[in-house]
Amino acid sequence: MAERTALVTGGAGFIGSHLCDALLARGLAVRVLDDFSTGREENVDPRCEVIRADVSDHDALRRGMDGAEVVFHLAARVTIRGSVDCFEADARTNLMGTLAVLGVAGERHVRRLVFASSMGVYADAGEGQLTTEEHPQEPISPYGISKLAGEKYVLQLSPRLGVEPVALRFFNTYGTRQGYTPYVGVITIFINKLLRGEGLTIFGDGRQCRDFVHVSDIVQANLLAMETRAVGEVFNVGTGRSTSVLDVAALLRGMLRPEASVRHEPAREEELRHAVADVGKARRLLGYEPRSRLEDRIGEVIEYSRSGGEGAR
Ligand SMILES: NC(=O)c1ccc[n+]([C@@H]2O[C@H](COP(=O)([O-])OP(=O)(O)OC[C@H]3O[C@@H](n4cnc5c(N)ncnc54)[C@H](O)[C@@H]3O)[C@@H](O)[C@H]2O)c1
Repeated sequence: MAERTALVTGGAGFIGSHLCDALLARGLAVRVLDDFSTGREENVDPRCEVIRADVSDHDALRRGMDGAEVVFHLAARVTIRGSVDCFEADARTNLMGTLAVLGVAGERHVRRLVFASSMGVYADAGEGQLTTEEHPQEPISPYGISKLAGEKYVLQLSPRLGVEPVALRFFNTYGTRQGYTPYVGVITIFINKLLRGEGLTIFGDGRQCRDFVHVSDIVQANLLAMETRAVGEVFNVGTGRSTSVLDVAALLRGMLRPEASVRHEPAREEELRHAVADVGKARRLLGYEPRSRLEDRIGEVIEYSRSGGEGAR
């Protein structure tokens, strides 16, 4: 039987590279299309075929999708704060890149397109409230706007193009291989600052709540999305557990450096105050079940950061 082939855009990045590993483990042939702007060669299993290109490069996308059954579209500029300053660049990659992927998926008769969306599409939620897929979608950042627009294009146009779409709204994802930048991933940022002997900066009072989901659960949802019959749907992917930024700071200081200082800066307008997923729909329709708990998996992220990203594979 011919090998099933998947294309993972952004496959050299944090989440994409873990997804590639899981697809290879299932016996699929895997292609990675990535411009390596934040992705790293060390993240990519040598068995993947790598296409180094911009996600809007139609010819590269054609090569990537030639004979591919499924496309996981994760390539994006992943920075909410950065999307305010660089809104054009955000839209160019996150929206126009998505439209390029969608068009070529239709042209190449890809069966399924799984789109990596974000909790950034939602309006703020009240304290203690879980965010369902029906929660108002009023993004407060350009990143959220481009992800929401990308989702809508994918869900609306895919059927006309003969492609089965599934959109997944990932919540705050953590795990090994997350790049350390000042903008993305509070867990990775705090760990790196503590290991370097620096203090922590918290925007606002720190009581803002997040749903920290381990990358293995995000991968699980993507694999389920590849096979589900619930096409044309959008799903939250999180854990349903609420953790405040203060809780994360306390946990990590306790594990690494209790004497580390904590400084507060004004809250960022473009960041949600409360975003905790209701994952009931993903449970019901995808059979998704979040398995990893923050307390159990945080140690591996510390070890990864301590080793300077060694042993990524
Ligand atoms: N990390 C999170 O908490 C989170 C939450 C919600 C949604 N997401 C989404 O998940 C996906 C993966 O995010 P990640 O956390 O792994 O980030 P990442 O930065 O590690 O991965 C993004 C990848 O896309 C590549 N890329 C960026 N611009 C590109 C371009 N123009 N052309 C080709 N490749 C390009 C980067 O090199 C990188 O490998 C993104 O779509 C992101 O919006 C992530």
